[in-house]
Amino acid sequence: MRVFVGITGASGTPYAVRLLSALRDAGVSLFIAVSRNGMEIMRHECGDVNLKSFGRVYDNDDLSAPVCSGSFHLDAAVVIPASCNTISRIAYGLADTVITRVALVCLKEGRKLVVVPRETPVAAPTLRAMTALAEMGVVVLPASPAFYHRPRSVDDMLDFIAGRVMDALGISNDLYTRWSGAHS
Ligand SMILES: Cc1cc2nc3c(=O)[nH]c(=O)nc-3n(C[C@H](O)[C@H](O)[C@H](O)COP(=O)(O)O)c2cc1C
Repeated sequence: MRVFVGITGASGTPYAVRLLSALRDAGVSLFIAVSRNGMEIMRHECGDVNLKSFGRVYDNDDLSAPVCSGSFHLDAAVVIPASCNTISRIAYGLADTVITRVALVCLKEGRKLVVVPRETPVAAPTLRAMTALAEMGVVVLPASPAFYHRPRSVDDMLDFIAGRVMDALGISNDLYTRWSGAHS
């Protein structure tokens, strides 16, 4: 499987790093771009991350990159974390960066697109953009960890979101403990 991962300027970049690691371990070929603010926030939240250890990394401004073309073999894309800015741009079909262009290509080619918003509270324009995306078939998967699996650490919470994204991509995983009834 070949998956694009876009990292934008929202808090929650550790979710992206955890997902990249899980996808790589699952044998997925990865194509990656990071927005300018995404890079700054990732440095702040995660320290130095060697993105090249996960896959091919593109300059987010390089719109001539092969990954921007519909002819590039890609199965799915994930924007994690997805800023309100990028969510709105994708909802309106803007394609001014590698991340927004890949998202638009996924929409036009009928490929799976997962966006992982991280914002609270959420303003009406962003809610409208998320509704528009959901109506276009995009999986809107907020970075909102559950507690029914009784997480004991931040890592457990990261694993929950990474696991739910893998579920949305159709990749089997046991990153989190699934609900199996109230009495188990
Ligand atoms: C430290 C920091 C944290 C931020 N956290 C969020 C956030 O959680 N969600 C969000 O939508 N924007 C957040 N922002 C604002 C975005 O980075 C900003 O809107 C930017 O334009 C997003 O650009 P991008 O979509 O190209 O990455 C944050 C900015 C900074 C500096």
